Amino acid sequence: MDTAVTTTISRERLIAEFERVRRYTEILCSPLATDDYQVQSIEQTSPPKWHIAHVSWFFEAFVLPHFEPGYKPFHPRFDFLFNSYYYTHGEMHPRPNRGLLSRPTVDEVYRYRAHVDAGMRHLMETVDGAQWEALALRVILGLNHEEQHQELLLMDVKHNFSVNPLKPAYRDDLKTPQGVTRPVRWLERSGGISRIGHDDTSFAYDNETPRHEVLLRDHRLADRFITNGEYLAFIDDGGYDNPVLWLSDGWALIRREDWRHPLYWQQGDDDWMQFTLGGLRPLNLHEPVSHISFYEADAYARWAGKRLPLESELETLLAEFPVTGNFADSEQLHPAPAGDTGQWFGDLWGWTGSPYAAYPGFNPLAGSMGEYNGKFMSNQMVLKGGCCATPRGHIRASYRNFFYPEERWAFTGLRLAEDA
Ligand SMILES: [Fe+2]
Repeated sequence: MDTAVTTTISRERLIAEFERVRRYTEILCSPLATDDYQVQSIEQTSPPKWHIAHVSWFFEAFVLPHFEPGYKPFHPRFDFLFNSYYYTHGEMHPRPNRGLLSRPTVDEVYRYRAHVDAGMRHLMETVDGAQWEALALRVILGLNHEEQHQELLLMDVKHNFSVNPLKPAYRDDLKTPQGVTRPVRWLERSGGISRIGHDDTSFAYDNETPRHEVLLRDHRLADRFITNGEYLAFIDDGGYDNPVLWLSDGWALIRREDWRHPLYWQQGDDDWMQFTLGGLRPLNLHEPVSHISFYEADAYARWAGKRLPLESELETLLAEFPVTGNFADSEQLHPAPAGDTGQWFGDLWGWTGSPYAAYPGFNPLAGSMGEYNGKFMSNQMVLKGGCCATPRGHIRASYRNFFYPEERWAFTGLRLAEDA
C-alpha cells in the first residue's frame, strides 16, 4: 500500500524546528573566515556563501510567495543567483561559476537569511488553519533540504580547503576517532521476498516511495566498513595497476586522472597522510577508508573476492537497526573505527552496487518539487546510511543518496557482501 506524507505538527513545534535547523547552518559556518565563504574548488563543490543563500532561496521560491501573496523578495536577482537546478521555476546562474560571485557579500547574504527567517516566522504564526498542513509539509521539506546542504557544506569545505597548500583545518578542536580494527563479522541473511521503501506517513523524499517488494538471494553482509589498512593492502598488491579488477569506465578514469589512492591521501616524509576537516593527519589504518569512488569500491570488492551490497540488501538490514552512529554532532567529522555492535548508520555513505532508478510506481512530487530527485535517475549509484557529516535525525533506512560513480569528494565508504 502506498502512503502519503502527512503531518499534525503544531505551530510551536514547527517554529522551534525551523529555528533549530536554521541556527545549525550558522553554527556550522562559525569556524569559517569571511574569505572561506567564497571558494569553489571544483564544479561539484559550492562556496559556503552560496549554500547559505540557496537554502534561504528555497523558502523564498517555494514557500513564502505561495502562502503569502504579498511577500516581497529580498532582492529581485537572487532568484536567478541562488536557484540550483529547478528549471520549471526559472533560469539560474551556472553552477561552475558560483565561486565567481564576490557580490552579494557574506554580510548581505546573512541579511538575506534574516529577511527570509522573519518572513517565515510571520507566515508560520499567521497562516490560517486551512492552509496549515500544506505549509507545514513544505516547511518540513525545506528543513530537510537545508539539512542536506549542511552535510554538503562540510564536504565542500573539506574539498575547498584540501586544494590549499597550507592544508588548513576547518576546526582544530575536533575529536580524533578512537578504537582499533577488529575482524569483520558476517551477517547471514536469508533470501526471499522482502519490502523496501518508506512505509509510513512521516517525512521521506519522493524517491523513497512507493514501498514495494524485492527478491533477495541468500547472502552475507559485512558488519563494518573496509579500513584504510585493508585498502592499503589492495594498493600494495597493485590494485590500481590491474585492469582485471576494474570496470571499463573506472579503468579509463584512474589512468586518465592518474589515481593511485583515495582522495585526500598523500605521501608524507615517512608514511601516508590524510587530509581531514581537522587538517592533515597521519593516516590511521584502523579508520574506514573514505572518499573513494564507486569504481574504487567495486575494484576493491572484486580484489577481495566479494561484491558490493545491493540497495535492497542493505536497506532490509538497516531497517532492523536503531538509527544511531557517528553523525555530525559527534564532533569528529571523520569516520571512526567500528565498535562492537557493528557499523550501520553514520560514518560513511556506503556505496551499493545498485543504480539509482525509480521504484516501481514512482510518482514524483507535483510541480517544481518533482525536480528535486526524480530527474537524476540515470547514471548514478545509490549510497546508504548517512555519514559523519550528516545531521543526526536526518537519516533513515529508506533514505536513498546518489552520486555519480566517479565522484569521491563526499564522505563515501565501502562495505562488502557476498552470495551465500
Ligand atoms: Fe538544494
